[in-house]
Amino acid sequence: MRDPGALDAFSGDESVVAPVRPLAAVRARSVADVQATLSWASQHGVPITARGGGTGKAGGCVPDAHGVVLSLAELDSIRSVEARHGWAEVDAGVITGPFREAMEEQRLFYPPDPGALDACTLGGNVATNAGGPVALKYGVTRDYVLGVEAVLADGTKLELGRRQPKGVAGYDLARLLVGSEGTLAVITGVRLGVLPRPREILAALLPFASIDDAADAVARSRLLGLRPRALEFFDRTALQRAARSPGFPQDPAWGALLLVEFDGEPGEPEAALLRFVEGLDKAPLDVQVATGEARRRDLWRLRRETSRLVKAGAAGWITEDVAVPVGSVPELVALLPGLGERFGLCALAYGHAGDGNLHVNLIWDEPEAGEQAEAAADAVIEAALRLGGTISAEHGIGLAKRRFLPREIGDRSLQLMRALKDQFDPKGILNPGKVLGGPW
Ligand code: LAC
Ligand code: ZN
Repeated sequence: MRDPGALDAFSGDESVVAPVRPLAAVRARSVADVQATLSWASQHGVPITARGGGTGKAGGCVPDAHGVVLSLAELDSIRSVEARHGWAEVDAGVITGPFREAMEEQRLFYPPDPGALDACTLGGNVATNAGGPVALKYGVTRDYVLGVEAVLADGTKLELGRRQPKGVAGYDLARLLVGSEGTLAVITGVRLGVLPRPREILAALLPFASIDDAADAVARSRLLGLRPRALEFFDRTALQRAARSPGFPQDPAWGALLLVEFDGEPGEPEAALLRFVEGLDKAPLDVQVATGEARRRDLWRLRRETSRLVKAGAAGWITEDVAVPVGSVPELVALLPGLGERFGLCALAYGHAGDGNLHVNLIWDEPEAGEQAEAAADAVIEAALRLGGTISAEHGIGLAKRRFLPREIGDRSLQLMRALKDQFDPKGILNPGKVLGGPW
């Protein structure tokens, strides 16, 4: 496809990275299409950017102006479900939300639940090692990848991985592709582990008088010996901005809010919630249990919309995706008000605090107020690293966070990663410039 108007749909993602219109886009309808495209691109030295749902948050699928986008979105079949083995095989373009629902109908559970689950693809989730709220109890996409079908830069198809949980036959190449953001190979299919569906799930809102009290509750969650399935945090500023949307839970007395969810056999979630609340040093202002599945789903819909709601009407923003060891969450959130004042913008946090992953957002409502946004983002990154955390817990590096990568991983690791990239992609055609920068 080369029609300029149609190509715009393949030019950007959901990050602040400016879209780039590619030379052309290929919509693969078979693995053979992917092989033919890569083999041609290799021969002619054409950059290829693989694309799933285009919902990335770091510019990972923003193409090269002289390159071709390879869309996997139309490779969208669930190939097989092997409940007795505990896995399903899917095409890369299957949308995550409908896949999770299809598993539920078979009383199975595929946990990873990234925010964009109604639009993102499983192949994209694997390419970015997507996370989400229930990663707290169940882990991230990587933990479910048993096998990967991928096409190398020269068009060769590879089957990597295994069909049972155990396997140590050589290096784990399947998982090396997890989170590689289209820089090592193009993922065309995945074998994903699935679990039995939990029998009961209970969600509750716990508002706290202050951000500190809520952050302390997050930090205590591990010590209480409980395993919430999700423990999401919203600071006061995030609540105030999101509450401009009707239906978003709010109350002027709330300094911060936790959305906590437990699952298990009937009765277990309720007992765990009680133990959790009783075990906190600072009691929440209230315990609002979601009565019924419809309310629970509604709360999660609002949670998934938070990223959009807090930015509504803003002149600009930077969304960070840092994580810190969970006991250091209070220290991270305590920095935000000072940061907002120092750089003259709004600094807020919400997100998967139970595993230490907070979406710190730097938002400005007037264009001039964004001048210091990059410096503020630097300060957030520095703080996360100082606390022993990471620059990106789940959104990936793409283009947006490339400049921070050496600060976390160091020169020698970066060299090793570049050497791996050269082995997989000697001509440098696979999503050039992403993650590791380059050419080097
Ligand atoms: C979320 C996305 C931004 O958690 O990761 O809302
Ligand atoms: Zn998130």
